[in-house]
Amino acid sequence: MRYLVTAVCFLAAAALAPAALAADQTRVTWLGHAAFKIETPSGGVMLVDPWITNPANDRGEAILADTAAVDRILITHAHPDHVGNAVELAKKTGARLVAPFELGQQLKAQGYPKDQVGMDGLMNIGGTVSILDGEVKVLMTRAVHSSGLERSGDDAGAPSHYYGASPVGYRIKIEAGPAIYHAGDTDVFGDMELIRKLSPVDVMLAPIGGHFTMDPERAAYAVNRLIQPEVVVPMHYGTFGVLEGRPADLADHLHEGVTMEALEVNETATF
Ligand code: NI
Ligand code: MN
Repeated sequence: MRYLVTAVCFLAAAALAPAALAADQTRVTWLGHAAFKIETPSGGVMLVDPWITNPANDRGEAILADTAAVDRILITHAHPDHVGNAVELAKKTGARLVAPFELGQQLKAQGYPKDQVGMDGLMNIGGTVSILDGEVKVLMTRAVHSSGLERSGDDAGAPSHYYGASPVGYRIKIEAGPAIYHAGDTDVFGDMELIRKLSPVDVMLAPIGGHFTMDPERAAYAVNRLIQPEVVVPMHYGTFGVLEGRPADLADHLHEGVTMEALEVNETATF
């Protein structure tokens, strides 16, 4: 099956309320940085790394305030630019968590509602959970990065960070929709080839900013040689000064046959 971007549109903040979708349509909205909203054909809503109030999203506060319906929050690792607004969103939406095991436990200690965290979402690398009444299968993949959870408060002498489990990515297979790979924060690594061989990817959400993740040239290797998706959506760039990679640099290195869909912040692609 071939997935091409069939429509893009700017999403009004108010449109974050659930919308009825035509069958076989999956909507992917970039909220800036590594934050994505994914809406399934049956109307399920997932947020990945929901730092909605990131500096690149000038409507972030309004979107956060207007977001009422989220079924699942997926978090790739403990860094604050990925945990983001998860606790607040979970409290107001009832969204259940998908996260690495120890990170999920730590997030409960930091206010994520305890009854929204369980074995239906906590797992480890190589595990798969079935969510949204079986419409979506989420495979937890490796990522090459770090994952300390910053402590709040200033308890002198205490460690600056909690253990936040290994950093991960997610391969999100939507029934009657694409397989989406959110790589998390990572460098390119050779075992991305195994992800493709065991769990093929249609749409890759790839960090390109450099400094904390792979840069465009290394991301292009991951796309061209290892994951080989049909569409790549660049992310994790431009939010802060050091994230210097740009979509044009990625495009310069992509092989033919891969479509780059460089979304604007709050723009939606439909697959
Ligand atoms: Ni990070
Ligand atoms: Mn990050």
